[in-house]
Amino acid sequence: MIRSVVRGYGAALPKRAVANRELEGVVETSDEWIVQRTGIRQRYIAGEGETTASLGEAAARAALDKAALTPADIDLIIVATSTPDNTFPATAVNIQNRLGMTHGFAFDMQAVCSGFVYAMATADMYIRGGMAKRVLVIGAETFSRILDWKDRTTCVLFGDGAGALVLEAAEGEGTIADRGVLTSHLRSDGTHKEKLYVDGGPSTTGTVGHLRMEGREVFKHAVGMITDVIEAAFEATGITAEDLDWLVPHQANRRIIDGSAKKLGIPSEKVVVTVDLHGNTSAASIPLALSVALDDGRIKQGDLVMLEAMGGGFTWGAVLVRW
Ligand code: ACO
Repeated sequence: MIRSVVRGYGAALPKRAVANRELEGVVETSDEWIVQRTGIRQRYIAGEGETTASLGEAAARAALDKAALTPADIDLIIVATSTPDNTFPATAVNIQNRLGMTHGFAFDMQAVCSGFVYAMATADMYIRGGMAKRVLVIGAETFSRILDWKDRTTCVLFGDGAGALVLEAAEGEGTIADRGVLTSHLRSDGTHKEKLYVDGGPSTTGTVGHLRMEGREVFKHAVGMITDVIEAAFEATGITAEDLDWLVPHQANRRIIDGSAKKLGIPSEKVVVTVDLHGNTSAASIPLALSVALDDGRIKQGDLVMLEAMGGGFTWGAVLVRW
């Protein structure tokens, strides 16, 4: 059976890190409030010339280097983003061009904070279906550009950045001992639209719009939705929380991460948390967190890693990978 095995990883952040204290001069807030409610200590904010495509390109190049591959080896690029450089063409095609590729194909995936999980599941389907052999899966965002910097309830939460994985087709036995993506579970429910959305768009206002969120409402649903898809992944594979080596969650809020892990019986030593460093980078948060935990040697080849996310839509999902 064909499996989608991780060959390389990479990340890219804007040059400028912004500590909570700096935001005290922008809106009425405090470092103490932000840390206590969210766990965020700083975020990176894109400057002039830094865009979703430029960050995504840098992350992709780093992932290709780690995999000892070149753009010539890639046949599909999927970019998970809600903050594309342009309404069209897709940021994925922009990055394809930046990488000097005129072969293969590329498209964007829009599932807000769940985008990377959706993109991983999609890449796995293309690989297992035989349409692609090597896929660049990129999560890249510049949420700073859709924030209302007068709204303290949202602007302190988000940051910019990008991360990428190279997935490659490899023959497996069809058991959970295989390396690669073992199972994926995706969900969405549009009845929650008003709780987390952007109040503009090409077909409605003709503007880009700003992010709007009823944080408390999102919080209320998050833990239940996250545990629901992770339990679906457990059920599909027969693994249990004890078998997991790492949980790499979408990094929105420390309290959501801790609450989900506790409900699932996953000890905090097995949870990768980078929300303190990056804030909520939406579709980029999982590959950025992976990159930190791979660089510092926590995640090793053969480890069982659960990726999960929940975000605007609502959308939510989980992907189980043996590294
Ligand atoms: N600084 C200081 N005070 C603030 C700030 C701020 N930045 N923001 C809000 N407050 C105040 C509020 O006005 C409120 O004051 P009041 O009691 O006088 O009315 C008080 O702090 C408490 O506000 P709550 O909204 O109840 O705070 P809560 O503990 O719920 O934390 C938060 C807010 C951090 C947004 C939380 O609800 C949360 O994390 N929600 C989920 C966010 C999330 O996971 N999003 C999903 C992914 S994002 C995506 O898909 C794009």
